[in-house]
Amino acid sequence: MKVLILAAGQGKRMKSRVPKVVHRILDKPMINWVIDTAKKLSNEIAVVLGNGIDVVQNFLSNDIKIFEQKERLGTGHAVMCAKDFLTDSDVLILYGDVPYISESTLKSLLKMHAESKNDATILTVELENPTGYGRIIKKNNKLLKIIEEQDASPEIKIIKEVYTGIGVFNSQKLKNALEKLTPNNAQGEYYLTEVFQYFENVGILKTENKIEVCGVNDRVQLAELEKSIRKDILRNFMLNGVTIVDPDSTYISPDVEIGIDTVIYPQTFVYGKTKIGENCEIGPLTRIKECIIGNNVKITRSECELTQVMDNVSVGPFSRLREGTFLEENVKIGNFVETKKTHVSKGSKAQHLTYLGDTYIGKDVNIGAGTITCNYDGKKKNKTYIDDDSFIGSNSSLVAPVKIGKSVVIGAGSVITQDVPDFSLALGRAKQINKLNWVKEKRSDSKKGE
Ligand code: UD1
Ligand code: CA
Repeated sequence: MKVLILAAGQGKRMKSRVPKVVHRILDKPMINWVIDTAKKLSNEIAVVLGNGIDVVQNFLSNDIKIFEQKERLGTGHAVMCAKDFLTDSDVLILYGDVPYISESTLKSLLKMHAESKNDATILTVELENPTGYGRIIKKNNKLLKIIEEQDASPEIKIIKEVYTGIGVFNSQKLKNALEKLTPNNAQGEYYLTEVFQYFENVGILKTENKIEVCGVNDRVQLAELEKSIRKDILRNFMLNGVTIVDPDSTYISPDVEIGIDTVIYPQTFVYGKTKIGENCEIGPLTRIKECIIGNNVKITRSECELTQVMDNVSVGPFSRLREGTFLEENVKIGNFVETKKTHVSKGSKAQHLTYLGDTYIGKDVNIGAGTITCNYDGKKKNKTYIDDDSFIGSNSSLVAPVKIGKSVVIGAGSVITQDVPDFSLALGRAKQINKLNWVKEKRSDSKKGE
């Protein structure tokens, strides 16, 4: 079985400069929701693209075949553009703007199709408000035809069972039927829904899950669908041992994994393929994207992206962990600390007002408040290396490339431009002078002048 995803439509109703199918739900482009589900069912997947093909292509992995539909002449025409893909096996057709369809529903559809030997088996749903969808006309529990909204008479419009756009087809029969399509309808398009009149047996699977088959045509529907999906995902986490303090203000994408007894506090966003371990406290006011986080980790009011954090780490409030950050066990990163491409080994701390970029930090190092690694010389990035047990005094600037040895002490306020050998004290600042009684003398001088 192959999967063909239609995604060439302009998405006019989105009123957007970017193609509809790359608009995101829980930070994941709609087309990737469909593709990820398709990948669970087949390893032969093709997408029909048109509008914004260059943009959409960037979101697809190399194993996805692409067919171009140069003119948008309808869903039937879109499938015709992929006719080389329609060989002897069955083809499952999905729509790029129906993102939440599940593997299990599709499996039931495929099972029904295989058992019945139908020419096609389609997925339908009954909607309170069927406006905009193709209506299902049946005879003896088999599909007779589908009538699009624009072509429907008032008697047809009251039918509540509609086509979801999803169906599995015998490829050969589909190809033959497509050749017979004409654009003789209200929209002047080649409708995929008109192939059914050329089939003998079309099975119908009516799903009860309305969220799964929701299509997105405008930004109102995009927001509504995100809300429903979000609720569904959060519910699943809660039923699997994760505490979500305020589901109304929590956003978690479908590819996230979270261990039991982790608590997610309000206003928290967890996106991408993030993994969070057990017994963590995440949030409030935290955004985490593409991170791997161990057990017993606490992240408060912080931003973390492309970062790995091991067990018992504490981050925040107000930390920013940027790409390439790696924090080993028992590390503490505190308020107003930014890290990028930085490795912090076990037990080390940077608790206040610090920037660490392109830095390696050994074990049990203390980074004083206001420490800055000066990693950029205006042309390129340079590395800072700080060995185990060292102490960086507050408000120090470490001008990279620079290597601080083991058990080194850097005096507060230093500007360090040279490597420091193990067990040394380094001071890189003007020596302090105390001018005794200077203030008293100043005052008496000014009195004389009066
Ligand atoms: C379509 C169905 C309708 C169904 C509804 C479910 C047809 C004729 N109608 O209507 O019965 O109830 O979906 O959501 O099929 N596309 C192309 N090329 C085109 C036109 C569309 O690739 O020339 C793609 C779109 O990108 C989209 C999908 O096909 O992913 C559906 O197109 P859309 O225009 O949204 O169809 P609907 O009017 O919603
Ligand atoms: Ca649609």
